[in-house]
Amino acid sequence: MSVILAIESSCDETSVAICNNGKITANVIANQTIHENYGGVIPELASRVHQQNIVPVIQQALIDAKVNKKELDAVAFTRGPGLLGSLLVGVSFAKSFALALDLPLISVNHMHAHILAHFIDDPKPSFPFLCLTVSGGHTQIVLVKDYFDMEIVGETLDDAAGEAFDKTAKILNLPYPGGPLIDKHAKLGNPLAFKFGEPQIKDLNYSFSGLKTSILYFIRKQELENPDFIIENLDDICASVQHSIVYILLNKVKKAAKQYGIKDIAIAGGVSANSGLRAELTRLAEELDWKVYIPAFEYCTDNAAMIAIAGYHKYLKKDFVGQDVSPMSRMEF
Ligand code: KG4
Ligand code: ZN
Repeated sequence: MSVILAIESSCDETSVAICNNGKITANVIANQTIHENYGGVIPELASRVHQQNIVPVIQQALIDAKVNKKELDAVAFTRGPGLLGSLLVGVSFAKSFALALDLPLISVNHMHAHILAHFIDDPKPSFPFLCLTVSGGHTQIVLVKDYFDMEIVGETLDDAAGEAFDKTAKILNLPYPGGPLIDKHAKLGNPLAFKFGEPQIKDLNYSFSGLKTSILYFIRKQELENPDFIIENLDDICASVQHSIVYILLNKVKKAAKQYGIKDIAIAGGVSANSGLRAELTRLAEELDWKVYIPAFEYCTDNAAMIAIAGYHKYLKKDFVGQDVSPMSRMEF
């Protein structure tokens, strides 16, 4: 039996979850809307809001799971990668909490956790499988051999897929984070209305910075003739941009699946909430006889449930860390 409390604070969501014997019984997420005004996450503001939110979020999670803190068996936390100031709040709290309650500490890599979110609910993937992890800071194709035996076989050389969404949204005067808004407008537009080139990158790697630039130049050119081009064509622009990003992402996944002879394919991270990506992956599953794993929406963007499930699998192996542990903004995969 094990009851694990997990803390996620790597970016702009303060989240706490409880995992009771492998089952998630609470997953509280406090979003930080303050960053909308700035067009991106302001690290110092994020740290301060984590500091304000952490105690109420912990308390709510304990209430939701109907658990007394004396019943906890371990404290798991995101060690990195992420914003250092944000991580410091979660890591310091986790250490103090564990010290006060005399509990073991479990360190979790945020990028592993996005993938391990697939082990929260059924159907769970079996090893080995390939996972496309697409978030605001990362774009990776990962060969997952076991819970903590993972290898990055392809990744972005510049911007992440989430950044491509967010930066395009900024060009289109949409607030941060723009990914979900592009998704919303894309549903009403024609994905083939405008065409943006596919980057020619070798192997299983990606590049998204060129796409962003070509969108920017395209919009500027159109605006010379029609200053209302964005307003009049927003749905079509969003649908076309989303179509390009999804096409680029899945083309390399197809290549990886062929190269590794693997037909079990998962997606993870914030961008895996994108409806175009989810639909196209489902279509490819039919076409290529893949078994695909698409996370529930609540487990796509940052959440502590994924940290809790990763923590549970480390708890089973008694993989604990000492009180001298510190956060890492960049963390080895
Ligand atoms: O995993 P996540 O919550 O945080 C990081 O670890 O980065 O991912 C956030 C990213 C943002 O770039 C956001 O715009 C994007 O995920 N995102 C989406 C959607 N929902 C979130 N992008 C496209 N379509 C969505 N529906
Ligand atoms: Zn994330």
